[in-house]
Amino acid sequence: MNLFMKTICILGVVYFLGGCTFSDQSNYDSWTEYLGGPDRNHYSTLSQIDTNNVAHLEIEWIYETPDSGQMQMNPVMINGVVYGVTAALKAFALDAATGKELWLYKDSASTSGTCRGVAYWEDGNDKRIFYTVGANLLALNAMDGKLIPTFGNNGKVNLHTGLPDQAKDKYITSTTPGTIFKNLIIMPVRVDENAGAAPGHIRAFDVRTGKLIWTFHTIPQPGEKGYETWPKEAYKNINVGAVNNWAGMALDKKTGILFIPLGSAAPDFYGANRKGPNLFANCLLALNADDGTYKWHFQMIHHDLWDRDLPAPPNLIVVTKNGKHVDAVAQVTKQGYVYVFDRKTGESMFPINEIAAPVSSLPGEQAWSSQPVPSLPKPFAREAFLLTENDVSPFATNKEELKHLLTSSDKRLFAPPDTNNVLLLPGYDGGAEYGGAAADPFNGILYVNANEMAWFLRMERHNESLHPGKPNQQISAGEQIYSIYCSSCHGEDKRGIASSGYPDLSNIAQKQAQQYVLQIINNGKGMMPGFPNITKEDKRRLVEYLYGVEKKEAVSADLSIIPQDLYKFTGYTKFLDEKGLPAITPPWGTLTSIDLNTGKHIWQTTLGITPGLPNQETNPTGCENYGGPIVTENGLLLIAGTKDGMFRAFNKYTGKLLWQTKLPAASFATPAMYSVNGKQYIVMACGGEKLGTPKGNTIVAFALK
Ligand code: HEC
Repeated sequence: MNLFMKTICILGVVYFLGGCTFSDQSNYDSWTEYLGGPDRNHYSTLSQIDTNNVAHLEIEWIYETPDSGQMQMNPVMINGVVYGVTAALKAFALDAATGKELWLYKDSASTSGTCRGVAYWEDGNDKRIFYTVGANLLALNAMDGKLIPTFGNNGKVNLHTGLPDQAKDKYITSTTPGTIFKNLIIMPVRVDENAGAAPGHIRAFDVRTGKLIWTFHTIPQPGEKGYETWPKEAYKNINVGAVNNWAGMALDKKTGILFIPLGSAAPDFYGANRKGPNLFANCLLALNADDGTYKWHFQMIHHDLWDRDLPAPPNLIVVTKNGKHVDAVAQVTKQGYVYVFDRKTGESMFPINEIAAPVSSLPGEQAWSSQPVPSLPKPFAREAFLLTENDVSPFATNKEELKHLLTSSDKRLFAPPDTNNVLLLPGYDGGAEYGGAAADPFNGILYVNANEMAWFLRMERHNESLHPGKPNQQISAGEQIYSIYCSSCHGEDKRGIASSGYPDLSNIAQKQAQQYVLQIINNGKGMMPGFPNITKEDKRRLVEYLYGVEKKEAVSADLSIIPQDLYKFTGYTKFLDEKGLPAITPPWGTLTSIDLNTGKHIWQTTLGITPGLPNQETNPTGCENYGGPIVTENGLLLIAGTKDGMFRAFNKYTGKLLWQTKLPAASFATPAMYSVNGKQYIVMACGGEKLGTPKGNTIVAFALK
């Protein structure tokens, strides 16, 4: 805390007699945790770099990671050392001033996946780094990068620990660092999003021993709160799962309250097996960090049918309401709404209207009859129901075709999935995404980047032959398995959807060894989950199908163990023109500053450009972006994240672009800010690959020369 804030705090104590409510962390000049600190505000009081000199930033050092590809990682810096994780999940420690590698840890278990960073814990000389590879949470010695043998099983705790037996073979990993509270590490997890997903229970482990300390059932069991919001015994149904916190959590260290944004229940788009509002799916959940007991929750989507996972940790901020300071928690969402609550009580700072939602006509489905919409702040991203035929992109050449698609799709707010197209805007990837929002913690100003990409959502009836008791001679076992597990992303024809990042598998035999494919099926890669639950035999059949070397077996896949649903999702398809650009009018990516005291937007600007389109200097279109901003006390808003591969500095008060520079590869990650030896650094992971951008392998540090 700087002198100014200390003074304000003392005044605060004098005037409000309620103690100093201003600060959740005393160290806004460091970056020792994911997104800057436990309040996840991406906020810094460092002041060497300012709005006047930001244009003089230069690359101070570059660390070349030994592997390349998408990195979503936000580094941390402790005692002069930067810690992070490469695209292929190797953990590293670098000299924070020079970028020189101090150690590199490579695990034997997995070579692919997503990792947004590490968690750090210390007690005297015992200093530990925690991160996840495959299904294992690892504890490394921060000094030398070696596994700590006394933690779990030789340095590893399997994240299946404490889950029911039926989940023991199911896919589970963690893509976001755990939250440290005292001697606990509380773990977010990523699981499958289809029928057959593992449950997303929240679990706290002892940082020293790896022992499981507490569990909170996100899919309630008999006698637990929310049990009645599901069909009876839903927690035992192997066709129901997830409700996981993949995005990470925020922690109020003063009160010990943990704020957990939860994802949807699985399967994502068809809820016939999970009738009801499905607590604690799509909730912001407040628990006591000590023991995992319940404090309050708010559900932002009832019975989710749109994959509206809460995509980022909330921001812990102070807002002023009726002249009083309130410790608040703000949650950004994929649907472009921001919710603001009193941290202690869960009371909303603005009225929330429960509005009537459309009825589903899909057999078996029962969309929930209402959904919550905050009266303020107004959404920070456009919504589908606002679009008319005039909203077809002016850059498109096939306008008539696009107009037809736009007008014939269901654009109602909360339009439930159907066999006709629903136009989803904001799309599957927001609105807000995993980068989350930055905030001025003391005055309640939020800064959020968003996508304005429209996507289609369409369901189709499962092939009859895929239902139990109906083995089909025309469709091979391998094809059946493919159709159930893989086709939603890679297409029924195996050709993928390049524009959505789903690779073509039709020629995989020419490109990759079978061993590589098996590894990916087991562990997943990037946005692809792993499928360890597919039996060895079925995996062999699947690979043979992909390689076109199927033996003509009279058997079909072991359908008794394959989760069954009447309707399936047809794939993640963006609404694009014939050149592959977004088919709706710009902006396609935005940055918005929102005053959470009043609920008013302060400014909104486009974020990013589209090379090749006219007037990008003066009238940029904005572009798709992932990875959040940093905000500084002295007026800077710094963000990479864009498909155009730039790093930008804005004036946080006005939204004016101050400076931009091209990165070695696009950075789909939130930067970190720290100071060593009197020099201020901004560090970010540049891995590219996402959105079809060139791959990169650099960790880049900027500073003033
Ligand atoms: C939720 C969407 C999704 C599902 C379901 C899915 N994949 Fe993928 N898959 C992806 C994405 C995205 C990538 C690219 C990952 C990356 O490189 O970051 C990918 C990559 C792959 C690759 C690597 C391709 C290459 O050229 O390197 C293979 C092989 C693959 N998937 C096979 C499968 C199989 C087999 C299944 C079914 C068991 C499956 N996938 C299910 C999304 C999915």
